[in-house]
Amino acid sequence: MSNSLQTVAYIAASILFIFSLGGLANPETARRGNFFGIGGMALAFLATALGGQFSGYGVLLTAIAPAVLIGSLLASRVAMTSMPELVAILHSFVGLAAVLVGVANYLAPDSNLTGSESVIHQLEIYVGVFIGAVTFTGSLIAFGKLRALISSKPLLLPARHVLNISILVATVVFGAQFMTLGFPAGLTPLLIMTALAGVLGLHLVAAIGGADMPVVISMLNSYSGWAAAAAGFMLSNDLLIITGALVGSSGAILSYIMCKAMNRSFISVILGGFGEGAGKPQAKSDSAEPQGTATPTTVEETADLLLGARSVIITPGYGMAVAQAQHPVAEITKLLQAQGINVRFGIHPVAGRLPGHMNVLLAEANVPYDIVLEMEEINEDFPQTDVVLVIGANDTVNPSALEDPNSPIAGMPVLEVWQSQTVVVMKRSLASGYAGVENPLFFKENTQMLFGDAKKNVDAILGKLRERLEAKVLVGAG
Ligand code: TAP
Repeated sequence: MSNSLQTVAYIAASILFIFSLGGLANPETARRGNFFGIGGMALAFLATALGGQFSGYGVLLTAIAPAVLIGSLLASRVAMTSMPELVAILHSFVGLAAVLVGVANYLAPDSNLTGSESVIHQLEIYVGVFIGAVTFTGSLIAFGKLRALISSKPLLLPARHVLNISILVATVVFGAQFMTLGFPAGLTPLLIMTALAGVLGLHLVAAIGGADMPVVISMLNSYSGWAAAAAGFMLSNDLLIITGALVGSSGAILSYIMCKAMNRSFISVILGGFGEGAGKPQAKSDSAEPQGTATPTTVEETADLLLGARSVIITPGYGMAVAQAQHPVAEITKLLQAQGINVRFGIHPVAGRLPGHMNVLLAEANVPYDIVLEMEEINEDFPQTDVVLVIGANDTVNPSALEDPNSPIAGMPVLEVWQSQTVVVMKRSLASGYAGVENPLFFKENTQMLFGDAKKNVDAILGKLRERLEAKVLVGAG
């Protein structure tokens, strides 16, 4: 393939990636967005592999064949709820790749580069390896936390900020050495910096508590993009630079949006508990203590409550995803709508375990998009709502976020379900959610607890509703 044809293919792939991001912004166009992304990646791969300068097809095949096999096997088997872990480990690969590309580039210098070009190239290597190493170890820690291999509690070393700043200062000092020492003496400061950057990534993510993990995932997504862009600079590959910049900037924007949704300061989260919020110990405050007793309810009572309502809001959370209850939930919605009941969904921006988790599940169950509303669109409607069904949600409906300034999730906007007339919370126990914070919602006077697996209970409610409606029809006919 000629160089100009390769350039055209790269431009086409870049445009497809931009269309892909545009498509992914909306559930209705997300599927199309995904196909644009796949098309762009296939084109990028072919254009690179068939490009003029490339000849090592044997090596490429040996590397790619097992990777394709392992990747497709893992991706097809992974449960939706484990997706963030998969994403975290994939980010670590991008980071590791950037480190390896950087070191390899240093060890095999391009003799065509002289003067300022060579200086810029050295700088690209140093910065690329730094970002790659931070991404690599940070993503490994995120993977460990999400998979519960290590505690999700923040590691708050007494002098943690001094440690971070010292590593940054040392990075600059070794950087100066790397730039002045010639080849191969510069390898030593490069490798020392790589180790230090690895410690920095590890420490930055270890210092972030469970409640802030959504931001960490999108932030590492952003880092992996910048690491890829840095690799693009090292390899003089324009497409890699563009793709990396797209991933890097969209990840940064997503992190910012998530911070806003959780009322966290972006800087405080990325610096691992710098300032208030993220690093707060998970103190049990007065208002988080059980205030009275939880009132259990039954499937029958819940079905009757739903049939007697004029307006119902369903707020799903992680438990709905685990139980895979979205299909019967969609059936219940249809059934209630057919009775003239206004049914809508309220979605918290960090419900579940990945951005848009609930939207994906509801779309899969064919719930119409126009009744699936964002938190800020629906929060004002709770006081006029008869029944709220909380299905496997916990942190995202926790009133202590607004009522208890000592709560670890204090200040995070939540779905104010308790403002409605009656709340039915469906979960298996009174256990806390991801952030490990007790939930006073369970003990409120207008809350009823429907204990058990969400799928089983939703199926049972659906059965009961059908029974009641058939009986009504029979009575009507009689
Ligand atoms: P959570 O607060 O995590 O609570 C989920 C609840 O579901 C649990 O308390 C659990 O209670 C219940 N549950 C689990 N399995 C169930 C089943 N089979 N049937 C019924 N209930 C079940 O969920 P949420 O309200 O969606 O909040 C999300 C949390 O995850 C937030 O803290 C958020 O910061 C964090 N997080 C989010 C993301 C993103 S990007 N969305 C990423 C990482 C972390 P029982 O054990 O009593 O059943």
